[in-house]
Amino acid sequence: MSSLLVDNIGELVTNVAGTGDGSPLGLRRDSAVLVEDGHVAWVGPARYAPAADRRIDAGGAAALPGFVDSHAHLVFAGDRAAEFAARMAGQPYTGGGIRTTVGATRAASDDTLRATVRRLVGEAMRQGTTTIEIKSGYGLTVADEARSLRIAAEASEETTFLGAHVVPAEYADRPDDYVGLVCGPMLAAAAPYARWVDVFCERGAFDADHARAILTVGQAAGLGVRLHANQLGPGPGVRLGVELGAASVDHCTHLDDADVSALADSTAPDGSGTATVATLLPGAEFSTRSPYPDARRLLDAGVTVALATDCNPGSSYTSSMPFCVALAVREMRMTPAEAVWAATAGGARALRRTDIGVLRPGARADLTILDAPSHLHLAYRPGVPLIHQVLHNGVPQCRS
Ligand code: NIG
Ligand code: FE
Repeated sequence: MSSLLVDNIGELVTNVAGTGDGSPLGLRRDSAVLVEDGHVAWVGPARYAPAADRRIDAGGAAALPGFVDSHAHLVFAGDRAAEFAARMAGQPYTGGGIRTTVGATRAASDDTLRATVRRLVGEAMRQGTTTIEIKSGYGLTVADEARSLRIAAEASEETTFLGAHVVPAEYADRPDDYVGLVCGPMLAAAAPYARWVDVFCERGAFDADHARAILTVGQAAGLGVRLHANQLGPGPGVRLGVELGAASVDHCTHLDDADVSALADSTAPDGSGTATVATLLPGAEFSTRSPYPDARRLLDAGVTVALATDCNPGSSYTSSMPFCVALAVREMRMTPAEAVWAATAGGARALRRTDIGVLRPGARADLTILDAPSHLHLAYRPGVPLIHQVLHNGVPQCRS
């Protein structure tokens, strides 16, 4: 078993609360991380670092756990640049373009879809992301949802069945029949490749009754629950998610006090944070020119918050977690520390993972070294390629 020492880390974000500087980021100065067999074996002061077979010198720069992007739609074909341009000229975003991508995705070969997933996962990795959740949802037939998830599962262990993204055109006048298809044969074909089930619970997509039916059968098939909720307007999604014990409710742009209280009251079994995480996706508000969710209100109420890209060809075609961190700080009143936590440990919570988003012995050796002295620079220097090197499962990836 060979060992690797990442040495001379000027500022290390561990996300082990109460250690280092005592903050939630568990910041340590002048540190080193020993990696063995793809996992963190030791974290401590650089001057006490054990010997190792190989060494990476971080040059006094900052390092942090790899970003955990807990919400992305990567299995699709085509793009919707013209729709984006129309929005920037004043058209509203309604989610109606999803059907355009469904048509292109159904017509694409497996290899075309696979190449897009690979390209986007690589793009994300070069921006510091070491875990990325991938949803289906642009196939919307039994065969196309199953193949979307099969392809997603080749690239990530975090795969989500989103057959209930929209009602496809051929079922437009019989949505109940489509929900029956999703709950029956589509779920059966998709479940072997999926860890999670998701529903777009929104006016124009699926209402609370449909969402409950789909999520409940998904749960019975062994899938964890997450959902798109309260993105385009107020609605029942967030409270439904909490009621069903969802790991995460995503978007949370239009919340009332009852939604915030429901989230805040969903205490995690270990008492740390909330059982249901609010995952905020500021790339979507950026790309649809919409008001941002109020992260401050959620954080002040004690809700655990994650940040993710929502990477998809319609509402948020970015794979950049640093961009989302910068938006969250500038536009959503999160502190830089809160945003970095939300993009790493928060994403891990949203996926109910304890082995990622954190750097402590036993965790996966997913680590991002910055071209910057501090995590603050991620928001302070927006749009700048600050990712120097990424370790995934202890393996150094290509430098950007
Ligand atoms: O999360 N809201 C639903 N789904 C995506 C958008 C998908 C699309 O526009 O293609 C989202 O924003
Ligand atoms: Fe989404």
